[in-house]
Amino acid sequence: MSLRGVIKGSGSALPRRAVSNAEMTTMVDTTDEWIVERTGIRNRYIAGEGETTASLATEAARQALASAGIDAARVDLIVLATATPDQTFPATATIVQHNLGCNGGIAFDVAAVCSGFLYAMATADSMLRTGMAKCALVIGAETFSRILDWEDRTTCVLFGDGAGAIVLEAQDVDEADPLAPGIIATRLHADGAHNDLLYVDGGPSTTGTVGKLRMRGREVFRHAVTNLSSVLKEVLETTGHDAAEIDWVVPHQANLRILDATARKLGLPAEKVIVTVDRHANTSAASVPLAYDTAVQDGRIKPGNLVMFEAMGGGFTWGACLARV
Ligand code: UT7
Repeated sequence: MSLRGVIKGSGSALPRRAVSNAEMTTMVDTTDEWIVERTGIRNRYIAGEGETTASLATEAARQALASAGIDAARVDLIVLATATPDQTFPATATIVQHNLGCNGGIAFDVAAVCSGFLYAMATADSMLRTGMAKCALVIGAETFSRILDWEDRTTCVLFGDGAGAIVLEAQDVDEADPLAPGIIATRLHADGAHNDLLYVDGGPSTTGTVGKLRMRGREVFRHAVTNLSSVLKEVLETTGHDAAEIDWVVPHQANLRILDATARKLGLPAEKVIVTVDRHANTSAASVPLAYDTAVQDGRIKPGNLVMFEAMGGGFTWGACLARV
């Protein structure tokens, strides 16, 4: 028997304001047809006054705790993935901790952009496995609308705001039992050689400004399909599971064409891939937990399912995680 993180519940939160592709055409020179055909996006949510990364994260965390039936007082670890924190410091995780009233445990942010939730899950799982904590909130939360160049049609139509969270609790399981619940394996990677393909052109230590997102989309697309396919294979080889055993793939939601291409490379039918990019657009670190919670709430993902999480983003960073939920 050994300890591993087991998903006990999930939650999500979206800003009040939905922005359709039709509304985007009033802001930049674009069309609904172009956005749908190239990305699959039809809608995104944009944070308004009073809505921040911390407020969305707090709402998602509350829902996750409620769905797990776990009191906030039991949470002794919060790992929050974001590239759009409320402030440069303190960590947004500490704001969420205070909002939930569970001060005293561990709380910190993880910066791995769109792969952030995978990095956060792996970090929390490792800490649960070593006994540093017992009950973790793992959150992905973003307000990318605040770092977008709203005059750049090549990027501003692609992103949205939101948050998703899971409760991960340490549980003693028989690792040899293929049906044992929890995180089976995670593989993470980064390659800093490509950070000029997707970045923010500002920061506290360089310009002293927040900066705006810049992306060379076509190049990112190419790397995304290659890196995701390779890390998915790596996780399957590590765990000895076959692609055919996977019940659901919960991918980072950047572009429907990336989701399709990656599933095809793995030989997985498109019906097994959870798609929310049409509704939420690309919410960076929030997209994986938002997609997971959506599919749990609509009844597709059920207890006992074998779920593959995967993401790729700025850095580049990428990773995949196989879990029995
Ligand atoms: O989340 C982190 C990871 N990010 C990603 O994975 C994003 C990866 N990249 C992509 O999803 C795609 O590359 C994009 C959706 C960003 C772009 O799609 P694409 O098929 O690679 O288009 P493109 O960049 O090659 O642009 C094609 C054309 C260009 O016009 P020309 O040069 O061919 O005349 C663009 O100027 O589409 C034009 N274009 C637009 N047209 C209407 C670019 N943005 C728009 C727009 N509306 N919003």
